[in-house]
Amino acid sequence: MNRAASATPDVGRHTVRAYTPADSAAVVDLVVAAGMFAREEAGFLADGVLDADDDGGTCVVADAEDGRGLASVLFYRPEESSDRGFDLTMIAVRPDLQGGGRGAALMRHAEDDLRQRGQRLLVVRTSGTPQYDRTRAFYRGLGYAEHSRVPDYWTDGDDLVVFSKRLDGETHDGR
Ligand SMILES: CC(C)(COP(=O)(O)OP(=O)(O)OC[C@H]1O[C@@H](n2cnc3c(N)ncnc32)[C@H](O)[C@@H]1OP(=O)(O)O)[C@@H](O)C(=O)NCCC(=O)NCCS
Repeated sequence: MNRAASATPDVGRHTVRAYTPADSAAVVDLVVAAGMFAREEAGFLADGVLDADDDGGTCVVADAEDGRGLASVLFYRPEESSDRGFDLTMIAVRPDLQGGGRGAALMRHAEDDLRQRGQRLLVVRTSGTPQYDRTRAFYRGLGYAEHSRVPDYWTDGDDLVVFSKRLDGETHDGR
């Protein structure tokens, strides 16, 4: 795991720490509870994809204050063919804890980490369905702008929506 993710900063009142392989079952429970995957689809997350790597892929988690597993998880990794572009691959907050600022705290943590690492752009891919209305509002509220849609990408009637944010203070030159 890279330097920034191994720290344990107190982001707001939510302490973020580096993911370890011992968290894999709790991450699966969390993303299933958050409605991102069916349980039978989520097993790949326990196969090492979230582990430390040398490419800069970073997974962080926050423990729930009530001791019941994880409150949140965030995973971001480099876009291989991009100049210092990163992809926000996964973010989830335990359903009964949503709306309490945990998601925003994780996003700020990732952005600060990437800025410190000299990265340029963070890209988010999500869904255009009504189920994800609040998720899209979440990204907009954090300064992410919608830049493209691919109709029927995830499945028929479920568009890919791409948001991004410059991390280097630059703009997209009017686009
Ligand atoms: C999207 C998600 C990560 C946001 O984290 P969060 O901790 O709930 O969000 P925060 O409390 O930091 O931010 C609140 C804002 O997020 C948005 N939001 C998104 N989902 C929300 C939810 N379930 N409850 C409350 N607010 C939500 C709202 O715009 C809200 O702003 P408001 O308070 O002005 O209405 C989280 O709700 C979640 O895990 N959702 C299900 C999984 C998901 O959609 N993941 C992203 C896939 S691309």
